[in-house]
Amino acid sequence: MFLPAKKLLLDARKRGYALGAFNTGNLEITQAIINAAVAKKSPLIINVSESAIEYASLGAITSIIKSLGAEEAAKKIPMAIQVDHGKKIERFPDYIKAGFTALMMDASRFSYEENVSLTAKTVKLAHKYKISAQGELGAVPYKGEEEKFNAWEKAMTDLEQAKEFVRKTGVDYLAVAIGNAHGFYKERAELDFDRLEKISKLVKIPLVLHGASDFPDTRIKDAIARGVALFHIDTEIRVAFSSAIKEYLGKNPAEYDPRKILAFARERTQKAVEKKMEVFGSAGMA
Ligand code: G3H
Ligand code: 13P
Ligand code: ZN
Repeated sequence: MFLPAKKLLLDARKRGYALGAFNTGNLEITQAIINAAVAKKSPLIINVSESAIEYASLGAITSIIKSLGAEEAAKKIPMAIQVDHGKKIERFPDYIKAGFTALMMDASRFSYEENVSLTAKTVKLAHKYKISAQGELGAVPYKGEEEKFNAWEKAMTDLEQAKEFVRKTGVDYLAVAIGNAHGFYKERAELDFDRLEKISKLVKIPLVLHGASDFPDTRIKDAIARGVALFHIDTEIRVAFSSAIKEYLGKNPAEYDPRKILAFARERTQKAVEKKMEVFGSAGMA
């Protein structure tokens, strides 16, 4: 059952759990994510980035998601399909037509004013079609950006801007930067939970933490208590999938049937997603 993301996130806030938004760009990872949600009876947000749309094609990836979501067991699971880190606003109408129920506008690398303007346009479009919109304020760094953001601190979400940003854009849920970062890190910045709590009190909408792959499991509940309703996870899925392929081929070097190799990777990825659903508390909430 595909729904606007806002509906899922408000339920998570009300009942004190968080959702995972898991990234996909192919058949097997999509199966792994949806199978995990069915097995764990967990509501779910399926993330597709613009580069994944380019890789798989808009029609193919959305057809895969929609047809797996229409299978009998999956129909009972509340799901949203979200464009992750959308930047091509001119393509947003095509994404909506293809079936996305949430649009993330990532204008976090532009000036504050441009971010407000692009996010407000996204919200207007999303709401016209009764779907949801996410914005990002502050910048959740990617690998290689650490220096640019001066050890991440400069990139953190500003409290007063957050309040104004939500008022001016009407965004449904907001990605914030509190020391979180995309990818795996040996050392990471101190997470600023105090800032998270203050932002939540000011904006009163569900908050999102990107770069959640190596977010410490022990702090998930603290984040939820401070307004987080959604964690974005990609790297952990990629690692589960590709390390399973390496392991399978290491043990079965003569195997050449992609279905056997990928079925093993799919199984491992499903287990990794299921584990996250347990940690977020979304298991059993569908
Ligand atoms: O945060 C971004 C996601 O991990 C998507 O990355 O653009 O390489 O698909 P991607
Ligand atoms: P990770 O790759 O660190 O899990 O971040 C994913 C993400 O934020 C997708 O938007
Ligand atoms: Zn992200």
